[in-house]
Amino acid sequence: MKLFDVYPLYEVCPTKAKDVYVYDEAGTEYLDLYGGHAVISIGHSHPHYVNRLQAQLQKIAFYSNAVENPLQQKLADQIGEQSCLHEYQLFLCSSGAEANENALKLASFHNGKKRVVAFKNAFHGRTSAAVAATDNLNINAPLNQQQEVTFIPFNDSQALEKELQKGDVCAVIFEPIQGVGGLDQPEDDFVLKMEQLCYQYDTALIADEVQSGFSRSGTFFAFQNNNIKPHVITMAKGMGNGFPIGGILVHPDVKPKYGMLGTTFGGNHLACTASLAVLEILKKDKLQKHAKEMEAYFRGKAEKIKGAKIKGRGLMLGLEFDFEVGPLRKRLIYEKHIFTGGSSNKNVLRILPPLTLQKAHFDQLFDALEDLL
Ligand SMILES: Cc1ncc(COP(=O)(O)O)c(C=O)c1O
Repeated sequence: MKLFDVYPLYEVCPTKAKDVYVYDEAGTEYLDLYGGHAVISIGHSHPHYVNRLQAQLQKIAFYSNAVENPLQQKLADQIGEQSCLHEYQLFLCSSGAEANENALKLASFHNGKKRVVAFKNAFHGRTSAAVAATDNLNINAPLNQQQEVTFIPFNDSQALEKELQKGDVCAVIFEPIQGVGGLDQPEDDFVLKMEQLCYQYDTALIADEVQSGFSRSGTFFAFQNNNIKPHVITMAKGMGNGFPIGGILVHPDVKPKYGMLGTTFGGNHLACTASLAVLEILKKDKLQKHAKEMEAYFRGKAEKIKGAKIKGRGLMLGLEFDFEVGPLRKRLIYEKHIFTGGSSNKNVLRILPPLTLQKAHFDQLFDALEDLL
């Protein structure tokens, strides 16, 4: 049987990984500044993570959400503690798109409306409403285009108010730091205004923290740079360090009802254990603070590269050049053995490493760039 060929692949086949490195079959070492797309948070094959998962596997790996699973409450308590969002409610699923799908659906259940406002260059996933709220027609099938979504630019409060005044918008969904779009961020004043308008017009505000959440940006959630309370916060990627897990945090104003949301796999024993292991290491090794320190080091080095604009926050960073970075990324992989990320803004080189990255790893990147540029 052939694989359904939807991914253009680099010719690298990782068979082993440790902390910030992955290794191919021949033992070649690659520095992972991509983190498998911002997924690896506490480092590949972290011993605590491996031990916790192995121990859980010996006990019980999965049972459905029809019975009690105390690991879900433990996870809710830990997320509450580390994010300081104790009053929110946790619902677990298995991916970022699913988290956004549930958030949008919940918003619509909550206020009975059905149009969505999203932002230019947004990426929210590849399922029904999530892909419709993604600003890329190439990945929206005619089926998805039935959803009512209006795209507006960041920082345009007037455009936002004009849409919300129409009274039919169930949710405004935004990425506090755009991932796939190329690391643009809304201005602080706009974020505050957006929250105020959402409350004023009975519209749910959804913060998509699928990529920026779980300490990657230097705060637990990137929106916490601003003092706002979104109705729903979505998360996935770094949450499980590679184990598929996603979730939403729901504001206490939004009340649950039996059957409103549901999933077979979401919140299973292994997934909760993976995320608990991540939270334990984030806390023990103070990786959130470390992400900020590494950002400062990155900025110091990047400022010396002529013509490169620094984007992003924490360890969700980018360098915007005045040329397309595709060929540079190839040379970084094949000649320098360094993985980096691209973006829909073709001039942006994205840096999304494990949060355990050290200064020497950035030195390795900047030495390589000095050589190649
Ligand atoms: C901000 C954001 N939201 C949602 C998603 C979709 O997540 P997943 O691929 O786990 O469905 C992504 C994936 O890149 C993302 O970056």
